[in-house]
Amino acid sequence: MNISDIIKGTRGLDIADRLCILSFALSMKKEDVLTKPEKTLDFKDMEFIGSLMEKRKNGMPIAYITKTKEFYSEEFYVDESVLIPRPETELLVEEAIKIIKGLPSPLRIIDVGTGSGIIGITIARHTGQRVICTDISLDALKVAYINSRRLGISENIGFVCTDLMGSIKNHVGYDVIVANLPYISLKEWDDISEEVKGYEPRCALLGGEDGLEVYRRLIDTLPGTLNNNGWFLCEVGGSQQARAIKDMLVQRGLDVSIKRDYSGTERIVKGQWINLS
Ligand SMILES: C[S@@+](CC[C@H](N)C(=O)[O-])C[C@H]1O[C@@H](n2cnc3c(N)ncnc32)[C@H](O)[C@@H]1O
Repeated sequence: MNISDIIKGTRGLDIADRLCILSFALSMKKEDVLTKPEKTLDFKDMEFIGSLMEKRKNGMPIAYITKTKEFYSEEFYVDESVLIPRPETELLVEEAIKIIKGLPSPLRIIDVGTGSGIIGITIARHTGQRVICTDISLDALKVAYINSRRLGISENIGFVCTDLMGSIKNHVGYDVIVANLPYISLKEWDDISEEVKGYEPRCALLGGEDGLEVYRRLIDTLPGTLNNNGWFLCEVGGSQQARAIKDMLVQRGLDVSIKRDYSGTERIVKGQWINLS
């Protein structure tokens, strides 16, 4: 059998998935897979490709099969202990980078609920600042650590396994706190696809009754963790949550704005604490 037989002969998978799996299994670029249809495959290759195709047919997300996901033009390692990076999170990172570049250095920056580390690592790479990354899941932090090494940024990243900013909150203040925490509500959970529910970590997705339980607890800690003139930025699931988070931040004295994603959904809430003195 050759590459062409696999591409043409595999039923139940779209062409993009077949290409991703072949490229991963054979360690070839997708372009090379397409331009070398006559390449013959040995029994070991066939067996491995077959097992990956089966996983995909059973619903495993392609990113967990190939162990990679692109974010902000970089390849990140992912496995089932972390949320698969979503494109809308690039907007959160973009906003954070813009703000950080306009502030005097050095800054204290923290990414709360870092997962695969995409937010903290990308900020550190694009600003040269040191970033602390926290997560309640040690397995997630191990993935973030792998990514920091892969992208050559490990010296600029600190890792803390804690509930939100729990073990560090009374010691230091931060100039920028950025977070993409779980925000799916119990009601929304029923409508989430099996591909997400069945594979991605529940603790990366579910944010309690209204989806905002984790954010509510984080925002309660801001008086002890956010420096004067400091910024808080987070990602949410839509208008209702964005307005609710905005209210919570405004009540605490932050100057807040909301940014829509490319599909027009209110997605990023950012606030600056300007009246502490
Ligand atoms: C929605 S995922 C986002 C991961 C990553 N920030 C991203 O944007 O891809 C939320 C992350 O928050 C972590 N998390 C959930 N509850 C937490 C808590 N109480 N304290 C710290 N991290 C938490 C989860 O383990 C998960 O990695």
